[in-house]
Amino acid sequence: MACSIEDKYGREITNLRFSLTQTCNLNCIYCHNEGENGDECNLITQEEVIEAVKLGTRYGIKKVKLSGGEPLLRPDLTEIIQKISPHLNDVSLTTNAILLPQKIDELCEAGLDRVNISLDTLNPETYRELTGGDLKKALKGIEAAEQSKLFPVKINTVILDNINTNEIQDFINYAKNNDIILQLIEYHDTNTLKNQKNYSQYHYNLDPIEKTLTKKADKIKTRKMHHRKKYYIKNAEIEVVRPMHNTEFCENCTRLRVTSCGEFKPCLMREDNHVPFNGNMEKSLLKAINQRKPYF
Ligand code: 5AD
Repeated sequence: MACSIEDKYGREITNLRFSLTQTCNLNCIYCHNEGENGDECNLITQEEVIEAVKLGTRYGIKKVKLSGGEPLLRPDLTEIIQKISPHLNDVSLTTNAILLPQKIDELCEAGLDRVNISLDTLNPETYRELTGGDLKKALKGIEAAEQSKLFPVKINTVILDNINTNEIQDFINYAKNNDIILQLIEYHDTNTLKNQKNYSQYHYNLDPIEKTLTKKADKIKTRKMHHRKKYYIKNAEIEVVRPMHNTEFCENCTRLRVTSCGEFKPCLMREDNHVPFNGNMEKSLLKAINQRKPYF
């Protein structure tokens, strides 16, 4: 039977978040690449993912998020989902949705439960500038998710100063009209190179947005995960994710990451304490959990 495991700060670990590839079909100006610097390495194998998930479930892991890069570029993604989903309560994918229409049926059949889709603007030109891609394709991907059994569909919107701060109401309307949960995310500075360059230019303090949401909300809740605030406005659900200098966020972190190089990663913000699998995965897992420390 699965037991549970806590780190030295009493935080239970219930989620594993895998980066399955560093490759992406977009090039978002703000992307933190899940805290990886893009160094050459041997890509985590399907077998390693499955072993890490099975091991994790013995320590109380119930949820897995698959990310990238763009996870839909990983040719064995469907097979991975098929093999891990029987062991888990929740398997979700963070994707830009560009390739979702052609993949969604097989992903659902394999046991995918949910998707989080990155969408930072509803304006085609801004989308092109921010990501290098075609907004129409992303919206088609979101539609495909909406029409599938995946539920709820969430959108990740990173708030970028002077780029999309004027689109918040448009996003709320879009979420309401499409039955989508909107996540407004503060730009995090993860110390990766590209990130450092753009952070000072685009970081936006979410206080004014939260003030407006508080005024408009019919109901406000606080989620256990990261103590995220959730606002309900006339059937729209809006979650606010504010990790920067936020001790509550770290205090309530239940996540352990796995890099695309096959290492446990105790914290998104740090690259100096990754623990490679190194043959004995259980030992590595326990070492990584032992190294977990709130960053803020
Ligand atoms: N700050 C905040 N969120 C980010 N994401 C990527 N880079 C950043 C950043 N610098 C989020 C996006 C994407 C998910 C993989 O990570 O919302 O959907």
